[in-house]
Amino acid sequence: MPMKKKTLRRLPHPVLIGLMGCGKSSIGRRLAKKTGMPLVDLDDVIVEEAGLSIPEIFAAHGEEYFRDLEGVALANHLGQRVILASGGGVVLRKTNRKLLKSHPPVIWLKASPEFIAARIAGDPNRPLIAGQDALARLTALAEERYPLYEECADLVIERESMDKDEITEKIIKYLKKKAKA
Ligand code: S3P
Repeated sequence: MPMKKKTLRRLPHPVLIGLMGCGKSSIGRRLAKKTGMPLVDLDDVIVEEAGLSIPEIFAAHGEEYFRDLEGVALANHLGQRVILASGGGVVLRKTNRKLLKSHPPVIWLKASPEFIAARIAGDPNRPLIAGQDALARLTALAEERYPLYEECADLVIERESMDKDEITEKIIKYLKKKAKA
């Protein structure tokens, strides 16, 4: 059943967080289609503003510079009426976590390193795992970041328990409930 206009207008705008390759952009696209809210992918914003690809930013300026750009992009887009897909490392900085927590709902797509490694092995666009054992690197990232995602999340979705359409429906249901509350 299509959503009522009034419900659509009151729908809170979610921020998607989680490890690289967990499906933030693709589920974000589905949510955008269903809700009519535009999708803003922070990685795309950064690439567009820097005029460089993510691997190029890391290679030319280093990770901390990338994190600076990421923090600015997050602050500029939070609170807008959009579906916000963040980069996997957005939770690393305390200032970003504080910002995220003050803009609910933050939705964590929780996926295991094994699940992600199978999907992104060999992807040249991921400087944090390039040239390394993807599973070992993702396991280390998960150890560091799971507590940070947990700290920020209003809703945790086990990514592996459902397909992307089911997850989209689950999120819509959650947003509708929040709109009525
Ligand atoms: C990163 C994840 C990437 C991108 C950059 C750093 C990370 O985004 O922001 O390569 O630190 O995990 P996705 O999570 O969208 O792949």
